[in-house]
Order: sequence, then structure tokens, then C-alpha cells
Amino acid sequence: MRVIRLLDEMQQVAGSLRTEGKSIGLVPTMGCLHEGHLSLVDLARESCDAVIVTIFVNPTQFGEGEDFEQYPQDLDRDLALCEDRHVDVVFVPTGSDVFPKGHSTFVEETELAQGLCGETRPTHFRGVVTVCLKLFVLCQPDFAFFGQKDAQQTAVIRRMVRDFHLPVVIEVGPTVREPDGLAMSSRNLYLDSEQRQEALL
Ligand code: PAF
Repeated sequence: MRVIRLLDEMQQVAGSLRTEGKSIGLVPTMGCLHEGHLSLVDLARESCDAVIVTIFVNPTQFGEGEDFEQYPQDLDRDLALCEDRHVDVVFVPTGSDVFPKGHSTFVEETELAQGLCGETRPTHFRGVVTVCLKLFVLCQPDFAFFGQKDAQQTAVIRRMVRDFHLPVVIEVGPTVREPDGLAMSSRNLYLDSEQRQEALL
């Protein structure tokens, strides 16, 4: 398994894989991997020649006062899990490479991003769509895998792919749940035992 941190190295490796005729499956994540992410890796592994996982806590999808600074991270653990699931490349870019000083271009989906999460997080999907477009340019996937748990996110990304004529197929994997039914999420770590019970509702 190769760990890549530099943007141009990622583009070179993706370009070589494509030249060799290999299909690329991309699983974009913000790390703190759980079985939900890993089920997407398994789906990608089944259908693609090469599997790339990205680990990047994208600052532009967090609003003011949200949990960007506290977002749970454990790169060593994530890399071990990826190795275990036979990932080919883990791409871990830095924030200042993806959004360098002076970066001023964003992509915005203006219909499906309204309401639901968009209501309380008005800049969230702009950040998600922008970073996904960047990751698609850098990793050049044929297929990109997202979880059904983030239903609005998958709809917004599919719309961006359609509207920008991107040659990427968006695949959506089923929600993976804890034994008591709670959807797996990296942010479940924030819940105390009372909130954990309430979350089941
Ligand atoms: O679902 C997520 O973890 C993020 O929104 C994504 C798609 C990796 C973009 O940062």
C-alpha cells in the first residue's frame, strides 16, 4: 500500500494507473475510519482494479463554531485498517496544498443543497462539492463510493457530476449500523451515554 501526500504525485500515480488500463475506485473520507467506510472500500475492491482512499479533513465544509479543530483523527490506525482491506493508495494531502493561500474558487450546487443539512449548515455543501471535485481531478477515479447515511450529500455530488459532465460513476453503499441500530459515524465518538441512547430515536 502506497501513502501519498503530494498532489502532483497523486496525479502521476492516477495517470499511470489509467494508462495501464486499470479502473480506479475512490473512497473519499475524513479519516477516523469505521466499518461504514470500510464497507465502501470492500465495494470498491470488488469492482475496481485499483482502490484509492483519501483522508482529508476538509476545512471548507465546516462552518464557524463547528468541530473542525476537534474532528477525531488517528492516521496510524486508519492506515492499518486500509492495509488490512487491501487498499492500493491512501492519499493524505495537507490543507495548505488543497486550499493554498489565495484560493478563491468554489463550486456550489444550488438546488438539492437547500434544506435539510443545508438549512443549518449553509456553506457545508459548497465545501463538500468543491473538495470532491478537487479529489476527482487529483485521483481520476472511474467510480467514487459514498455512504447512503449521507443521503443529501450523495444527491448533491451526483448532481455536480452530472452538471459538470464528469466521467465518474457515483456508487452509494448501504448504511452500516451498530448492533443496536445506530448508523456508524466518526462523530458518534462525541456522544455521552445519554446522547448515545437518544441518537437511536
Ligand atoms: O462524507 C465525508 O466524509 C465528507 O463529506 C467527504 C465526502 C469525504 C468530503 O470531505
